[in-house]
Amino acid sequence: MTKQLLLGQTLGFSGNPLTSDWADIVEFDSAGGVLIDGDRISAVGNGAALKAAHPEADITDYGDALISAGFVDAHMHYPQTGIIASWGKQLIDWLNTYTFPEEARFGDPAYAAEAAGLTLDLALAHGTTTLTSFCTIHPESVDAFFAAAAHRNMEVVAGKTCMDRNAPGNLLDTAQSAYDDSKALLAKWHGVGRAHYAITPRFSPTSTPEQLMALGALWAENPSCLMQTHLSEQLPEIAWVKELFPDARDYLDTYERFGLLGARGLYGHAIHLEDREIARLAEIGAAVVHCPTSNTFIGSGLFDLMALARAGLSIGLATDTGGGSSFSMLRTMAAAYEIGQLRGIALHPAQLMWLATEGSAQALHMQGQIGALRPGATADITVLDLASTSAIAQRHDKAGDIWDALFPTIMMGDDRAIRDVWIAGRRRHGKSASKAAQ
Ligand code: GUN
Ligand code: ZN
Repeated sequence: MTKQLLLGQTLGFSGNPLTSDWADIVEFDSAGGVLIDGDRISAVGNGAALKAAHPEADITDYGDALISAGFVDAHMHYPQTGIIASWGKQLIDWLNTYTFPEEARFGDPAYAAEAAGLTLDLALAHGTTTLTSFCTIHPESVDAFFAAAAHRNMEVVAGKTCMDRNAPGNLLDTAQSAYDDSKALLAKWHGVGRAHYAITPRFSPTSTPEQLMALGALWAENPSCLMQTHLSEQLPEIAWVKELFPDARDYLDTYERFGLLGARGLYGHAIHLEDREIARLAEIGAAVVHCPTSNTFIGSGLFDLMALARAGLSIGLATDTGGGSSFSMLRTMAAAYEIGQLRGIALHPAQLMWLATEGSAQALHMQGQIGALRPGATADITVLDLASTSAIAQRHDKAGDIWDALFPTIMMGDDRAIRDVWIAGRRRHGKSASKAAQ
């Protein structure tokens, strides 16, 4: 296969800017290049030098656009695309009013396939190259998502959402069927191409102890799987968990006591954590996932990103659509910045970009494989136009350095800022890539 050389401004990272000084670990080149060989990045460096060393490569010159690793969304619900931006409810009412009726439709394979394709295409249009999705209780919804992702050659994580109580009857499985269906689905999809299976109890209020225990056992039998769920999102939810599990020490313990706490666990939201929960998540090496547009849209609270990073937790960033209000990881970074400000912290653009790429990849235990502009990583790449609207362009034109030039796109950008997306070395979405004359 021909080598591809992408020229432009390049941004990557050699470490974690939440726990070390961002200036020490940023790898930025205003005249950079990314060499792609097959489906992998084979070199990142000075554009002119790479061009001289690889005269055989096909060149795409992006000028002063910013070449980044593709965005990695660490928690979302593809079956909720059709109810994104539904008005007026907080978590439990929102689930009952909007979410559950929509999810009930996903037993229909054609409906599920259409929603999966639409969601993945929306993600690509917004520069997101990896999605981590909840499905519904229907195995058909899982097949539809993995099949649509395979068709696009996208690296994805997903699993059958399990619920055996506190949901409408047409959305309930049982402890045994959740175990059996999840086992069959992970045997079918986990590790096939770019698919990864996550065992997926929705959250402890919708699973009996028997179901949580069955899924804990399944995880122990399949330790290479991820496990995704929700944790401490909203105060009335936490009070409900205490009623349902009177013997549990805290919300995390409703997972821990059933074998659902582990290093490959992904705990969405994690806003109102107690000290024991933070210490235990850090000790285990589990990841929490920040869902800032959802946390404001559903009215859940202010995630304490810096305190959790300082405590040693791995942190991913996510849209949580359709509780989240945007498919854009740019908008998600902006919301993370705004929540930081409400907590007295100004997250640097380098920290935001890291969270949306390497941070989320780390949370998924895929560091070095995706989310990285680094030799050896899969060539999942997003190219950002830093002057995509007149409002952004006028601010960009006054910028003093790359951070000042990038921050308006983080705060004000959307799918119009996505100049191009590459998936495993192939251009999959783009508007205006200019093929340079050699
Ligand atoms: N908690 C349990 N299910 C959900 C869901 O679908 N979205 C969000 N935001 N929180 C949840
Ligand atoms: Zn969620």
